[in-house]
Amino acid sequence: MNCENAQVTGISFDGGYAKYMTAPQEAVARMPDALDAKDAAPLLCAGITTYNALRNSGARPGDLVAVQGIGGLGHLAVQYAEKAGCEVAALSRGTDKADLAEDLGADHFIDTEAHDPAETLTDLGGASVILATAPSADAISSVTGGLGRNGHLVIVAAIGDPIEVSPMALIQGRQAVSGWPSGSADDSEDTLRFSALSDVRPKIETFALEDASEAYDRMINNEARFRVVLVP
Ligand SMILES: NC(=O)c1ccc[n+]([C@@H]2O[C@H](COP(=O)([O-])OP(=O)(O)OC[C@H]3O[C@@H](n4cnc5c(N)ncnc54)[C@H](OP(=O)(O)O)[C@@H]3O)[C@@H](O)[C@H]2O)c1
Repeated sequence: MNCENAQVTGISFDGGYAKYMTAPQEAVARMPDALDAKDAAPLLCAGITTYNALRNSGARPGDLVAVQGIGGLGHLAVQYAEKAGCEVAALSRGTDKADLAEDLGADHFIDTEAHDPAETLTDLGGASVILATAPSADAISSVTGGLGRNGHLVIVAAIGDPIEVSPMALIQGRQAVSGWPSGSADDSEDTLRFSALSDVRPKIETFALEDASEAYDRMINNEARFRVVLVP
């Protein structure tokens, strides 16, 4: 992804849902034996994006890391941050995912419909890193005030709308806002290896390849928890 000539299967050329395919050798990643292929599949998008964003965010063990949006990316981000020794706050709309977030390793659960997320994070001491996975400019704007001193808002949610952030808050808090794209084949290998080593796994639902359209519907209707994997 860092390379301007990067090619992505299923986007740059056909093959995403094929049983067999050819791929450029520089685009493939070695699989650890300990990892099941079904679990590895989501790690090569949702996993690499959150793992790579977090490891480049400046977050260190003991830091408060907030993950906004507990979906395909967010449920992995909570695990990666916890395995990296961070104090983890999961931000979600409603309480449906509270138990799940705790199971995944979150130390705090913030229902953003019941509590102001920025105020709650500030009460916790201010986040060193907020990883924004929720695809909503309003939602992202609502958390920027929860950054602590030297805090870093890392946006991985792919939205085109502008977000609101106070320049004065950034100045006074020496804070930063940035975005992060997933990563390269090397980063994929690192993601798979770390996931195998630290027992990070995606929550998946599996479908046969011939049921791809049904699987797609579950995803589009936001019913999948959290990733749908097609098994040829
Ligand atoms: N940067 C990259 O390279 C990269 C790579 C992959 C994906 N992405 C992008 O990352 C984003 C998340 O992907 P995903 O697969 O994790 O999606 P997802 O499974 O739908 O999860 C997104 C979560 O965000 C929250 N959310 C959704 N709509 C919201 C809204 N209007 N307001 C507030 N919160 C909302 C929900 O969490 P709660 O129910 O917990 O509130 C939802 O579960 C997408 O925009 C995707 O395109 C970026």
